[in-house]
Amino acid sequence: MERSNELDASVVTEDESSLRPASFDEYVGQSDLKKNLAIFVQAAKIRDEALDHVLLYGPPGLGKTTMSMIIANEMGSNIKITTGPSIEKTGDLVAILTSLQPGDVLFIDEIHRLSKVVEEILYPAMEDFCVDVVIGKEATSRSIRIDLPPFTLVGATTRAGDLSSPLRDRFGIISKLQYYNEEELVKIVGRTSRVYDLQMEEQAQHELAKRSRGTPRIANRLFRRVRDFVTFYNDSAITYQRTLQALESLKVDSRGLDDVDHKYLYGIIERFQGGPVGLEAIAASIGEEATTLEDVYEPYLLQIGFIKRTPRGRVVTDEAYHHLKISRE
Ligand SMILES: Nc1ncnc2c1ncn2[C@@H]1O[C@H](COP(=O)(O)OP(=O)(O)OP(=O)(O)O)[C@@H](O)[C@H]1O
Ligand SMILES: [Mg+2]
Repeated sequence: MERSNELDASVVTEDESSLRPASFDEYVGQSDLKKNLAIFVQAAKIRDEALDHVLLYGPPGLGKTTMSMIIANEMGSNIKITTGPSIEKTGDLVAILTSLQPGDVLFIDEIHRLSKVVEEILYPAMEDFCVDVVIGKEATSRSIRIDLPPFTLVGATTRAGDLSSPLRDRFGIISKLQYYNEEELVKIVGRTSRVYDLQMEEQAQHELAKRSRGTPRIANRLFRRVRDFVTFYNDSAITYQRTLQALESLKVDSRGLDDVDHKYLYGIIERFQGGPVGLEAIAASIGEEATTLEDVYEPYLLQIGFIKRTPRGRVVTDEAYHHLKISRE
């Protein structure tokens, strides 16, 4: 079957696509998700049906887009890629849906950002493979039903909680992506060094993995910056020393925390006595967007136990004080 990738430039950069694993086997980690999906994909293929709709959620950079491409790949289907905010009118979505071929995968990134009216087009499309469109004007207008081929909707979101329940309920497979552990990130970094054809000391791989906040995208980004140092100094391989030097220059600390994490933690500690404090107040005091803090920074700080969420707001934990070498007054 002929495959096509209609890539929306905002979703995938060229640099990232060269590092994307293309099959379940190459995709590191997320083993429960992978095992289940492999069964569902195989079963759908045996029955010659489209795979049930899949919702992938979790923090940025953990491999949602990559996994959706692998699903299409493993199904032997074409994938169409779009994003919630780019579908402005119901007509835009109808045009996409009616262009689908049987078995196609439609990937909607940031699916929580679909508008209500657009979302309502999806309900019958997902459930009964049809869309209702209104043609004509006012008094003469009538609604016609257009049948769609069976297809698989894969939705991705960093904010599953923002999805309306009618939409969420129409996904047959709902999975949360987890942060990666050090071993898994070492595998990803090792793979990246092979793709770039650059030897990397084992200790260097571990150091990079430790500082990647459990996130493959960050691991690959740090790898590219380390590689810049290696190129600049004309090294023949990536050594531990060079890796350390690069990471320190980038101000990525031993737990992978960067400037914004530090600003956030110091902000709560210095201006709010360690909390509890509301998200909006922290955001305003350090000049960052509340949603960015909530979607990108807080999940990892929660995961490693540096902050806690309480009904009265965020609290910095003893572990964080210890890491920052600050004593509580
Ligand atoms: N399991 C994995 N194994 C190897 N590499 C991975 C894996 N998951 C992600 N990557 C790498 O990390 C990069 C980021 O992954 P991806 O774009 O799929 O994340 P995402 O969850 O869609 O992020 P966002 O929420 O920001 O859209 C990819 O380019 C890919 O190279
Ligand atoms: Mg993505």
